[in-house]
Amino acid sequence: MIIAIDGPAASGKGTLARRLADHFGLRHLDTGLTYRAVAASLLANGLPLGDEAVAIEVARHLDLAQMDKTVLAAHEIGEAASRVAVLGGLREELVNLQRRFAQTPPGAVLDGRDIGTVVCPDASVKLFVTASPEARARRRTEELLSKGQEANYASVLADLMRRDERDSQRTVAPMKQADDAVLLDTTEMDIETAFQAAVEIVSRARDA
Ligand code: DC
Repeated sequence: MIIAIDGPAASGKGTLARRLADHFGLRHLDTGLTYRAVAASLLANGLPLGDEAVAIEVARHLDLAQMDKTVLAAHEIGEAASRVAVLGGLREELVNLQRRFAQTPPGAVLDGRDIGTVVCPDASVKLFVTASPEARARRRTEELLSKGQEANYASVLADLMRRDERDSQRTVAPMKQADDAVLLDTTEMDIETAFQAAVEIVSRARDA
């Protein structure tokens, strides 16, 4: 079984993906981390984010097991990831890596922006997880504050909207709900309610 989960930044798709993987006994890949890892490596080496050949070379040497989620979570790295994500050749390289992960038994949950449309178009079930920009900005602000980091609602909201714009307007594999994806709008849901709704959608697809 392959579960494809897409949606904008701070929609809750990552938490849902992780919990669904636990629940159904599947492996989990946050594909955003692959773009973040490439961006972080370019930044660390003082290399330009727009150099496709270099980005592809970095992607070829990427080791999924070595990706450090806590380091890659930094705001600047998310911003840089959204920039390198417009490079078509880099996407091809990362998509191959993501597909290999998805196809390894017993199956997997992948979350990102183009899983249902490009990476795993034949996934057993597809979810498009979203929430209003205001709800997402509120959650992200609370999350940052709870980690003791500085956060300002207005600037978090502006950043999210800019990132959504870039991710949904790019020409290669833009963020988009697949025709056969189920929309899960979590604006009015807490994480527990959203998780129960997601389990129900996946179970229904599995038993169909
Ligand atoms: O989900 P995230 O914030 O970790 O993703 C970081 C950036 O990576 C995001 O702004 C766009 C890009 N991305 C992508 O283009 N395709 C994916 N499948 C996942 C992430």
